[in-house]
Amino acid sequence: MRIEPAARLDGHIAVPGDKSISHRSLLIGALTEGETRVSRFGRSGDTLSTLEAVRALGVKVEEIDEDTLVVHGAGLRGLRAPEALIDCGNAGTLVRLLAGILAFQDGRFELVGDESLSRRPMARIVEPLTQMGAAITSAGGTLPLVVEGARLHGIEYRLPVASAQVKSAVLLAGLGASGPTTVHEPAPTRDHTELMLAAAGARVRRRPGSVTIEPARELRLPEVLVPGDISSAAPFLAAAALLPGSRLTVHDLGLNPLRTGFLDVLERMGVRVGILNRRSIAGEQIGDVEVTGGELDATNVDAAEVPRLVDEVPLVALLASMAHGTTRISGAEELRAKESDRIETTTAALRKIGAHVEERPDGFVVRGVPARLRGGSVDAAGDHRIAMLGAVAGITSMEGVDVRGADAVEISFPGFHDLLGQVALTGDIA
Ligand code: S3P
Repeated sequence: MRIEPAARLDGHIAVPGDKSISHRSLLIGALTEGETRVSRFGRSGDTLSTLEAVRALGVKVEEIDEDTLVVHGAGLRGLRAPEALIDCGNAGTLVRLLAGILAFQDGRFELVGDESLSRRPMARIVEPLTQMGAAITSAGGTLPLVVEGARLHGIEYRLPVASAQVKSAVLLAGLGASGPTTVHEPAPTRDHTELMLAAAGARVRRRPGSVTIEPARELRLPEVLVPGDISSAAPFLAAAALLPGSRLTVHDLGLNPLRTGFLDVLERMGVRVGILNRRSIAGEQIGDVEVTGGELDATNVDAAEVPRLVDEVPLVALLASMAHGTTRISGAEELRAKESDRIETTTAALRKIGAHVEERPDGFVVRGVPARLRGGSVDAAGDHRIAMLGAVAGITSMEGVDVRGADAVEISFPGFHDLLGQVALTGDIA
């Protein structure tokens, strides 16, 4: 797909419901007694994999309209083992959280995924779940995963990597354990699981650096209102920040403080970020975010900050390539374990269109030149975030960018290119 340069971005938009929260609304809704009404469900390739998976496990889900679902919970231990394999598609969040839930259900479950998911590390969940007494095996630390329901006991677990997916797998398994389960984190990661479980009546205790869950008897979660996905808004905010004269407002965006690292980076780079109508629903913060474009300054990102913007790091590298000064991004080695090796694919994409980016084992060094990148062609490498990076690079370039495999955006944001087309204004791109 050819992405033409734009002069600036202008307008008011909303983006689909948060992917992390949408996955959790189905997975936790499936375990409740009664109904869970999910509004503003973020319908995408990944969340449809979760919808299919919970249905395969015997859970009835009504689709009221495009983004409203009603999940008829099967109860804490009510999932049914299907004959067939459970296909998790491209979705790391699905396979990891579901493994924690299946560890205490009755029956035998086999989880598979697409080529990308089949390369991603699974030992990180097999290890703690096994410590809890789960019967879980993976072929050489990757998919397929075979889980057989077992009696679990609580553990105290120190996460070796700052991963919300691993933390969530252990906490969800803790719902079905015989005693409390505590997870310690090396750096704070997104807490959507903790917030939603607490809203569903689970006993969740939080201290700085750790979270404890008590075994549950039953969960009830009548309602989930999914805020807009800040990771889906980030490409638009990045493009607006890069193009002087832009003014873009994203409405009803999730502003969970463990997800807003990208807004902090924008501010450090000199972008004016306004937040309006801030409010809170079931512990999740929501608001409208307004960004105006202008010149950018370099900044640094380190390991402590990475979890708060983990999916936005490729966009930070793009911003840095057009900023004044040199930006260092370190402590980001987890990017190598995403849908693609995002340190490698981001570096390759940005270098091909004229950016001065050097790869490091744990991040990037970006030498900024405050002018539009030349443009050219980039390969999305089957990764939705790299496809969106290519689109933002095209909009903000001199000559435009051809994005190979641009339809990868469907994994998290169908309609991404149409929305970008609506707010990108043509004109003098000097
Ligand atoms: C997610 C957590 C992050 C993130 C992913 C979604 C989640 O992964 O990259 O897109 O929903 O918990 P890790 O927790 O493995 O870093």
